[in-house]
Amino acid sequence: MQISLQQQVALVTGASSGIGAGAAKALAAAGAAVVLNYNSQAAPAEALAAQINAAGGQALAIGGDVSKEADVERLFAQTLDAFGHLDILVANSGLQKDANLVDMTLEDWNTVISVNLTGQFLCARAAVRIFNRQGIREGVSRAAGKIIHMSSVHQLIPWAGHVNYAASKGGVEMLMRTLAQEVSEQRIRINGIAPGAIRTAINRAATEGAAEKELLKLIPYGRVGDVEDVANAVVWLASDASDYVVGSTLFIDGGMSLYPEFRGNG
Ligand code: BGC
Repeated sequence: MQISLQQQVALVTGASSGIGAGAAKALAAAGAAVVLNYNSQAAPAEALAAQINAAGGQALAIGGDVSKEADVERLFAQTLDAFGHLDILVANSGLQKDANLVDMTLEDWNTVISVNLTGQFLCARAAVRIFNRQGIREGVSRAAGKIIHMSSVHQLIPWAGHVNYAASKGGVEMLMRTLAQEVSEQRIRINGIAPGAIRTAINRAATEGAAEKELLKLIPYGRVGDVEDVANAVVWLASDASDYVVGSTLFIDGGMSLYPEFRGNG
């Protein structure tokens, strides 16, 4: 199976590091022109865009806070100005502000919900409006547009000490599935990815040293995931190779969502 995203334009939010950066790189390698959105970290996003351009691809870094409506509208307008179309949105921006519920501030609750859930709503809305205007681009893709919502195993697995994050990801799942039901007849494909423990900055403390040994007890497959494990799936979900996949969440977690604590127990 050869996947080509030639002539397609992809926008990846939160592309300055981690899964977003990996997804942007992989989409560019598959031939897509890529917009790398970042919020505060301009330098790594610009460096990655330069690297993609130097390798013969097309990339542009654009700043913007996905939780702010005006920023999102500007981000999508600048994408169209630069590349003329939009075919793929990877709604990836996300963060954690961890605390037990009794100690969690309203500010930390609101920040996580705003970025992880409202940000995905604002970006999906902007993308669907463009896909509807654009329609199917014959010879480019069978779909009028594709959205990949980056979720987490914690859309399914409750996570003590992270109630804002788990609630946001549970919300992402129903945003994704409801939107899929709503716009599929316009030939817009909406899907989600639920990564488990992937080695990135968001979980550095949990994936290094003694903590990693503990973490591996939760991963039947016996290793922490790499960004590429998720990035490859992003490319597949963005391509016509997955054209009949609609409203699904792909768990990429080494089996974390299989509740391995139940092996020999329960
Ligand atoms: C979180 C990581 C965590 C992983 C598995 C992800 O969604 O962002 O911090 O290691 O889920 O628990």
